[in-house]
Amino acid sequence: MVRQNHSRSIQQTITEMLRSEGGRFISGQEICQELGVSRTTVWKHVNELRDQGYVIKSIPRKGHKLIAAPDTLSAWELNPWLTTEFLGRRVEHYFSVKSTNLIAKDLARQGAADGTVVTTEHQSAGRGRSNRSWFSEESAGIQMSLILRPSTPPHSASVITQIGAAAVALALEAQGFAPAIKWPNDVLLSDRKVCGILTEMSCELDRIEHIVVGIGINVHTRRFPDDIAEVATSLLLEGGENLKRQALAGAVLNEFEPLYTRGLLGDVEPALSVCRRLSWLRGKNVSFEQDGVIRTGTAGDVDSKGRLEVEIDDGHRELLLSGEVHLGTGPGR
Ligand code: BTN
Repeated sequence: MVRQNHSRSIQQTITEMLRSEGGRFISGQEICQELGVSRTTVWKHVNELRDQGYVIKSIPRKGHKLIAAPDTLSAWELNPWLTTEFLGRRVEHYFSVKSTNLIAKDLARQGAADGTVVTTEHQSAGRGRSNRSWFSEESAGIQMSLILRPSTPPHSASVITQIGAAAVALALEAQGFAPAIKWPNDVLLSDRKVCGILTEMSCELDRIEHIVVGIGINVHTRRFPDDIAEVATSLLLEGGENLKRQALAGAVLNEFEPLYTRGLLGDVEPALSVCRRLSWLRGKNVSFEQDGVIRTGTAGDVDSKGRLEVEIDDGHRELLLSGEVHLGTGPGR
């Protein structure tokens, strides 16, 4: 795990100072004074910022000038895009981790605040549902995990996944895409998956300790591994040129917070109405596993509790609370 460590506040201050100069040079001396550190320390951090993708021009006796900033998901790059009250107000950013969900669960166990968000540029062992893996290329996608501490009972948690799907779909719609939501938690474009959500919960019988909502969005990916090439897509492949990951991640968090806050007050309808409006499964033949038996039927709507209605082939109706639903008679999609 490569963490953006305590250097963060120094580097944040340097980038903020460079930005506030609006493209003019700022002297090394001024930065030293502001931070109370030596010139050597400033140089070290300027060079580290370069390693992260910042383009900084440095001229002796003139100082430093910011030419371009990278599209990373660091706290201070994400912050300007946020309109939230609590979500993402603390961001833990890493260059590379196995999985942001694993980090988020650790942080949550150590007491991380409600609304903390873990972001990374790269996951070496991204995790999907049902023990699958989640593919991502360095800096090509959004991989983030939200730490939530809802005061609602554990049985209400399954709807949080759908709040995540609704938030992503709304953020994509705002960018001009036409997403669909495959219940409960996949977001699709042109019938292919562009976003997956992995929600994990730690709870007691009657109380949620914490929930981690892991969101993966394929943004700039051009090629996928053979085994998912037919079913996956990215915003780039769907016509989204020059999208900023920071802006999109911020938009997802901005959409998530009000849907979640309403959900905490018992009103999940704003999120579920998005899931219904964009439902990909409605009217399709589906199959799912129940008590070890594969059952088939026709998908209906999402009910007021977030359950998927399925008209079973023998005529009766099932309400699915969570789990995997496949098109047709078996896995594949
Ligand atoms: C799925 O569709 O199976 C869920 C995929 C979830 C992927 C995200 S990426 C951020 C977070 N960290 C992980 O390891 N997984 C989730």
